[in-house]
Amino acid sequence: MVSYRKPQFFRVMKYAAEADRDVIDMVSGNPDWDPPDGLREGLRAYADEDSSAFQYPASHGLRALREEIAARRGVDVGRVVVTNGAGEANHLAMAEGLAEMSGSEVLLTDPVYPYYAGRANLLNADARFVPVDDQGRLDPADVRAAASDETALIVINSPNNPTGAVYGEDRKRALAEVAADHDALLVSDEVYDHFDYSGRFASALALDAENVVVTNAVSKSMAVTGFRVGYGVYPEWLVDAVRTRHMLTNVTGSRPAQHAVLRALETTRPDYYATTRRMLEDRIDAFTDALDAAGAEYTEPEGAFYVMARFDGFPGTYGNVERLIDEAGVAGMPGEAFGEARGDWFRFALVTPRATDAADRLAEFFA
Ligand SMILES: Cc1ncc(COP(=O)(O)O)c(C=O)c1O
Repeated sequence: MVSYRKPQFFRVMKYAAEADRDVIDMVSGNPDWDPPDGLREGLRAYADEDSSAFQYPASHGLRALREEIAARRGVDVGRVVVTNGAGEANHLAMAEGLAEMSGSEVLLTDPVYPYYAGRANLLNADARFVPVDDQGRLDPADVRAAASDETALIVINSPNNPTGAVYGEDRKRALAEVAADHDALLVSDEVYDHFDYSGRFASALALDAENVVVTNAVSKSMAVTGFRVGYGVYPEWLVDAVRTRHMLTNVTGSRPAQHAVLRALETTRPDYYATTRRMLEDRIDAFTDALDAAGAEYTEPEGAFYVMARFDGFPGTYGNVERLIDEAGVAGMPGEAFGEARGDWFRFALVTPRATDAADRLAEFFA
């Protein structure tokens, strides 16, 4: 049984940082590319603002930022809550979903982004895992078979961390229907929406359903995981409770960060995202070519920036991750951190220009 009490990314990063050799860090999803120029401009300009600009913003976010997000997402501004990253938006959705819906069970995928499972545990909910298929996709029929009156939440993520799967509109609609049939809330984490290489991604907002929450952030899309600016679009009937929980937990969010993000949203052109996408596609191609040379099995990601790979006779345990750090100079995450379905695999985050070198090192190690 995998324990999700505490996410283990930092444990592996610490081991890699303390290793007595050069290690290529592919552990966590910290982008290594530049944010859009408007982000830096917004931050710089903020330093010279009047001191009143350094005081509390509205708890649920700067009005202008919420309006910008609402306009882009085609939703009423009252449904948008600016949060401390997609992480908090997910937490609020899960906590309020469990409070409001009948049942105390959360349906998650296996493999899973470990923070969802950790949160289910923190919120005293039972987690039930639905294995994905070989391509990393979740079959709504499997979710229907697992759902029951106890199901309060179904949490999905697409483009997916760790498998790279992208779910289209039909799949999301089918999942929202399963949730509705069981008086459950569907939480759709779309933090990697700008990293879709398949052209198939559709936001769950397109479903216009009463029982759907969509969460997102600029953490990955603008390469600013340290800014902590995300948001959730909550159904009208839930949004007041979400705002209150957010206020009681955080008081409010960071005003300079929200201001800089607003400036960046207003000034960044689509080619910023397209250039990043192309750079990542090239990285993925080079990395998977080198994995072929290493004789590895892997899932070709349709989105996001992670590759899961499996090496014959060398399962994705913490012990083997430490061996790869010490003996190959490559740090990834063990598949066992994400569940049982891909416990034999490793997950590599392609957030380094040395991704191809890493795959060459792996090829040499497994030769
Ligand atoms: C699926 C998923 N959701 C949420 C997050 C956290 O996003 P944020 O940094 O905006 O809180 C991550 C970060 O890796 C993620 O992979």
